[in-house]
Amino acid sequence: MEYIIEISRIIEGALSGDKKRVLAYLEQLSKKLKQAGDESTANMLLRHLKNTTNDIASASNLLTTRLPVDSESRLSLADESFLHKGEVAIVMPHGMQEKVKEFLSYVRNSAKLMTSGVGISPSMLIYGPPGVGKTELARYIASELELPLLTARTDSLISSYLGSTSKNLRLLFDHANSRPCILFLDEFDAIAKLRDDQYELGELKRVVISLLQNIDSLNHNTILLAATNHHHLLDPAIWRRFTYQLEFSLPSLPERKQLIEIFLKNYKTSKIDITQLADIASELSGAAIKQICENAIRQSILSKKKTRDGDALLKDFISAKLPQQFSFDIKDSASLAIFNEKFKGKISQSKMAELFSTSNATISRKINEVEIS
Ligand SMILES: Nc1ncnc2c1ncn2[C@@H]1O[C@H](COP(=O)(O)OP(=O)(O)OP(=O)(O)O)[C@@H](O)[C@H]1O
Ligand SMILES: [Mg+2]
Repeated sequence: MEYIIEISRIIEGALSGDKKRVLAYLEQLSKKLKQAGDESTANMLLRHLKNTTNDIASASNLLTTRLPVDSESRLSLADESFLHKGEVAIVMPHGMQEKVKEFLSYVRNSAKLMTSGVGISPSMLIYGPPGVGKTELARYIASELELPLLTARTDSLISSYLGSTSKNLRLLFDHANSRPCILFLDEFDAIAKLRDDQYELGELKRVVISLLQNIDSLNHNTILLAATNHHHLLDPAIWRRFTYQLEFSLPSLPERKQLIEIFLKNYKTSKIDITQLADIASELSGAAIKQICENAIRQSILSKKKTRDGDALLKDFISAKLPQQFSFDIKDSASLAIFNEKFKGKISQSKMAELFSTSNATISRKINEVEIS
């Protein structure tokens, strides 16, 4: 029964008098029917939707229900975004791609699983260092599943009146339960980090318990994603709630190549040696690589050139790996030693000579000197 989830949610909503939920799932059902080619039933449902909402407001008014807010600051507890399929490009190692594919197929087959009596709770914890694509992966999943991404705003969720945090969590989870969406707890560690504050220990316990209760009370098919840089700070009980756990690390050489290709999509020329740039970019995160590429694009636009010269781009990548006070002065042996250590074997001696504005013979001699000293 392909549409069992939507039908169950509509029945649940109707029985509990939750009109919002009925309408949200009615809309999703009509969308799915349309996608499956059953346009006439989809239109019939849409007409039904309009008739039902005539007495209160327009259908769209009801469906774009306001996002929950913190009662003190009136700040929204979440942001909602809609992403189209193919809009988000994510770069991951093969093993992770397989896991994400499995997760997507698990969600897509949730109706089948549900009819066979298998409970599902699609949840994924994404962890790893900053700037490696954790938030981007949540966006990718939302785009692939074509569901709204409801991203919790941890700043407003954690109320300055700590007692309100549990209430905010409840509001947010209730909102997620009432509509087809993906609930994304980004920078999830903010909650766990409260643990550092000795004075707030009691309150933290209450927040963690409330979080656990809210996770447990999520509809079986509500997708929950969470991302953190500090997974070791997470309470083990929270950790266990996630059926999928995905660890991101800094990108490997082939991944760095893919990232550079994506970020320089419209600016690539044959003069740019992407493999060399990716080699130089070792230990840089995807976010750092993106910043260099975007900066290069910005420069090329400002200088009215269509493309950033390959040499200039190489320098941008080299500079990103060097300390700020680095000087390309051949007399500065300390700088040359740093340079040699970072880029030996990655950059030709003639390129080094060019960067240090000296001759091939001099650079070769100076490198020998720093290597033996
Ligand atoms: N693996 C990746 N694939 C695609 N884009 C990436 C990847 N890693 C980084 N990026 C790009 O870098 C930017 C930062 O990535 P993102 O926000 O996903 O990092 P993050 O892991 O969530 O970092 P933080 O821990 O700081 O929140 C994004 O705009 C994204 O386009
Ligand atoms: Mg992030």
